[in-house]
Amino acid sequence: MRLFIAICLDEGLLDALTAFQAALREEGVRGRFAPRENLHLTLAFIGEYGSPDGVADAMAAIPFRPFPLRLEGVGNFGDLYWAGLADSPELAACARRLRRSLAERGIPYDRKRFSPHITLVRKATFRGETVLPSVTPPTGAMTVRGLSLMRSERGKGGMIYTELARTGA
Ligand code: 2AM
Repeated sequence: MRLFIAICLDEGLLDALTAFQAALREEGVRGRFAPRENLHLTLAFIGEYGSPDGVADAMAAIPFRPFPLRLEGVGNFGDLYWAGLADSPELAACARRLRRSLAERGIPYDRKRFSPHITLVRKATFRGETVLPSVTPPTGAMTVRGLSLMRSERGKGGMIYTELARTGA
């Protein structure tokens, strides 16, 4: 199964992000907008892996204390539009510890540098190009109380993400 480890977002942040997506649509952005229930922050992408058990163990093995998460800025990787997060030593440490714990157990994950973002639109275009329109970025903050092991499956109407395990407070 296809797995990744993420921070699931609280309702307040989801409200802010879906309102921002609506503003992008209104400005004329076209593309595949991530549905509200799919908005998340990935810490480690594992990909195809046999069993979630070892991954859940790797998550449970790291020390975890709740920490604040704050939206800051928006950007794009080509035609993928995202919302950014304010610099956070706790977030960086959490991703680092988690990735080390996976590596220690021989669990493979995408080793690309951690660049925290919440994907909002894929295959995005604005006036035929991939530049972002100038709209006021979303604001909001939440407390991260745990990490979620997610399964990703292709459904008829898009990706379906299911939480398989959760660790933390
Ligand atoms: P993205 O939103 O920037 O594509 C589920 O696919 C989650 O894992 C998404 O948040 C996705 O980030 C992230 N991810 C990280 N590396 C990935 C990879 N190599 N392939 C697919 N998804 C990846």
